[in-house]
Amino acid sequence: MRLLGPYHWVIGNDPRGWLPVVDPTQRETMLSLGAFAQCLEYAAAHFGYQCRWRVRATTRQAADVLEVRLERRPGPAYPDLTGLLGRRTLRTDFSPVPIQPADVQQLTGGEAAHCRFLAPASGPGRDLTAATLAANQHQTARDPAQCELAHWVRWDAAAVLRHRDGLTAAGMGIEGPAGWLVRHFYDSARVLTPDFRARGLAKITGQLATHGGWLVLTSPGESVPALLAAGRRLARIWLRAKALNIGIHPMTQVLEEAPGPAGLGQYLGLGAPVQFVLRLGYVESYDAPVSPRRPVEWFVRT
Ligand SMILES: Cc1cc2nc3c(=O)[nH]c(=O)nc-3n(C[C@H](O)[C@H](O)[C@H](O)COP(=O)(O)O)c2cc1C
Repeated sequence: MRLLGPYHWVIGNDPRGWLPVVDPTQRETMLSLGAFAQCLEYAAAHFGYQCRWRVRATTRQAADVLEVRLERRPGPAYPDLTGLLGRRTLRTDFSPVPIQPADVQQLTGGEAAHCRFLAPASGPGRDLTAATLAANQHQTARDPAQCELAHWVRWDAAAVLRHRDGLTAAGMGIEGPAGWLVRHFYDSARVLTPDFRARGLAKITGQLATHGGWLVLTSPGESVPALLAAGRRLARIWLRAKALNIGIHPMTQVLEEAPGPAGLGQYLGLGAPVQFVLRLGYVESYDAPVSPRRPVEWFVRT
């Protein structure tokens, strides 16, 4: 993020954060920046500012993506900052109870046109579960994809503090004695071993066996504004999840491998490309976030 002046910023595109193997066209980068923009807008509103946005990027690789001016007037209503601070990815301990229609409605708010819920036992729900397992198997066997993952895994506490990004043991849900073991003895080469790959797939198979359904988010097209808007939609949905005790686990492999955004949209008869595949589940406790957060000074420059 670059400061142009007081309350006037440009949100940029940092190639160091790209995932060239699994996201070679920076589709996920644009979605992520959209989610960031939505969170920024809510945080600004909390402090009494309204954001005025201008999309600067015409390609997904452009250095400057969004320009924003903060003006001192009420922004969009958002109840409180605790939802924003408490949002997180949950991956385990999902109930098998299907998400109830009223909860799907609350979760998706007025955005149903771009969302499709697939119950876990429905035909399309089962198909998506099977396709997700197949895509994970395919990706896990791809060495370049595993090398890219290895680059972003932060095993030991010093690496977590040094980078404050990527995937940590806690973020992956590796806790207790297993967490201690990996934090002290694992290194990035471990991610490439057959044992690590097999354990990862076993974990995913378990996750796919128990959930409350899929929420699939589409976008009207694949332009930069359409992807940014889809990322914003994800953030709005995610921020409603905690109050409903619904865990959200993005599982992106069907979009990174086959069938891809357009193929999945076609297969499900949605008439639009899919941008997010979210595994949902009721959870007993919605624990506090564990993924590291970088201090603002680390990603702001003048
Ligand atoms: C575009 C996008 C794709 C993602 N895909 C996956 C995925 O395939 N599997 C997964 O476990 N998490 C996925 N995530 C979740 C991120 O790993 C997670 O948001 C990040 O590690 C930060 O953790 P937090 O959500 O708990 O703050 C995805 C997130 C985004 C924005």
